Amino acid sequence: MIGAVTDPTAGEPLIDAGQISARVSELGDEISADYEGRAPVLLITLKGAFVFASDLLRELRPDTDPRVEFVRASSYGDDIVSSGSLRLVGPDPPSVHDQDVLILEDILDTGRTLTALKARIRTLGARSVEIAALLVKDRPIPERPRPRYVGFHIPDVFVVGYGLDYAQRYRHLPDVRVLEAP
Ligand code: XMP
Ligand code: MG
Repeated sequence: MIGAVTDPTAGEPLIDAGQISARVSELGDEISADYEGRAPVLLITLKGAFVFASDLLRELRPDTDPRVEFVRASSYGDDIVSSGSLRLVGPDPPSVHDQDVLILEDILDTGRTLTALKARIRTLGARSVEIAALLVKDRPIPERPRPRYVGFHIPDVFVVGYGLDYAQRYRHLPDVRVLEAP
């Protein structure tokens, strides 16, 4: 845990709102085409992915006919490095059984969250499990799950905004910004 951080709202964003909406629109087209006729379950990881998911949903073609489910995947504490233990709550097993599940995640860092979540969804009998991650941190971790859809690759920095938080702050920012210790 660090005691203080610089103000991320000062200075330029790492990814601005226009870049995000253009990319999310492209992802919506791609996902609509790939899942045509399959009525996928979009499994939104709380809390961080809620902004990405709400924009992406509205970029899907109407005939995509998605179902929306939520899962709470959180590591404990407010650290800017991943802390030790992971907690997974949801989804209801019947909602994913025999379904094509697309996990919507805000950011892939160490991969621990998505490895655990994918395993759980497979155990619940999903027909397929893929990942759409808004952000993927550039880290040399070969065993990380590979998202089928990626918004942006970013350097190994801590970011906030567009749903991502530091100690529950900054989720409201319309762009993605770097948070640094002073
Ligand atoms: P893992 O390490 O499991 O981490 O891939 C994924 C989860 O950790 C959080 N995380 C971040 N949250 N800015 C954030 O606001 C970041 O730079 C960051 N890096 C990891 C996030 O909750 C994500 O789902
Ligand atoms: Mg978080």
